[in-house]
Amino acid sequence: MINETLEQLNRLEAETLKAVEDSADLNTVNDVRVKMLGKKGELTAILKTMGKLSAEERPVIGARANEVREAVEAAITAQTAKLKALGYEASVKAEAIDVTLPGKRRHTGKAHPMSMVLDDLKAIFTAMGYTVVSGPEIEETRFVFDMLNTFEGHPARDERDTFYIEDSIVLRTQTSSVQIRTMLENKPPIAIISPGRVFRRDEFDATHSPVFHQCEALVVDKNITFADLKGTLETFMKRLYGDSVKLLFRPHNFPYTEPSAEVDLSCFKCGGSGCGMCKGEGWIEMLGAGVVHPQVLRNCGIDPEVYSGFAFGVGLERITMMRYEIDDLRHLYENDIRFLRQF
Ligand code: DAH
Repeated sequence: MINETLEQLNRLEAETLKAVEDSADLNTVNDVRVKMLGKKGELTAILKTMGKLSAEERPVIGARANEVREAVEAAITAQTAKLKALGYEASVKAEAIDVTLPGKRRHTGKAHPMSMVLDDLKAIFTAMGYTVVSGPEIEETRFVFDMLNTFEGHPARDERDTFYIEDSIVLRTQTSSVQIRTMLENKPPIAIISPGRVFRRDEFDATHSPVFHQCEALVVDKNITFADLKGTLETFMKRLYGDSVKLLFRPHNFPYTEPSAEVDLSCFKCGGSGCGMCKGEGWIEMLGAGVVHPQVLRNCGIDPEVYSGFAFGVGLERITMMRYEIDDLRHLYENDIRFLRQF
């Protein structure tokens, strides 16, 4: 009987140790443990038969059974540790990041060419002592037209050119309205620029847009003359396009200036000899300007016997297109990153 039991224990030990060693995962190890050491396990079953043994035999079997249990438990502990280590290694491998793969590039934005030009313009004029002001885009006709000496019936007020909201409210067609607002609120000396959006009923094409941008300038003080206007515009254009540019003043008519001029710039591309950029003219029209009409000063409560001023208005799209040799206005509004990236 005792030999039979010892043999049983030996076989169980060998089988179980092998089963533990062969276990490929933690669940299998646990199954083996339950099958061997659990309440209904095989070792437990053997121990239950010990009652049939004699008093001499019992401790021999008991000692051997303990040995077997300890051996199996040790094997289970070792195998569990081994499988856990393998599992960790596997998960590290599975979750590994290949740092040599190319990353996802995030594109950084940059200033729009119009913004860059506007920033330059503000820098040029604030350096000369000007203040940057703004005015409303939805504006009263008295500021856009009447007080600028542009009376009922003037072609500039035509509904074919102007977006009317009501009879006396329009989308401003020019930034010149800010001149009036500035003079009503401030006493001379005044030196301001006012960049902003303006609106006209134009078809969208390579040189026109129903929404575009202007920058207005106004200076009012004692003894301001056309010579101050010329000097200022020359400084402005040279800072923007370089010292070699020349300005051409052509007589013109604006209701709010007297005298008035349109100002052309020598073509920066051909220098004045004529090319595709200036359509063979050698000159490119840049802006409107003049000496502020005495009636406009009077409209704003400024005495034209004491004060005088000059003003001009320039298109920002035009300046930007000239500077970067952009041949179609629409590029500026399409937000095509391939276009914008070039500047
Ligand atoms: N307002 C004019 C335009 O939209 C530009 C202009 C001309 C502005 C003469 C002025 C000026 O201040 O004096 O075409």
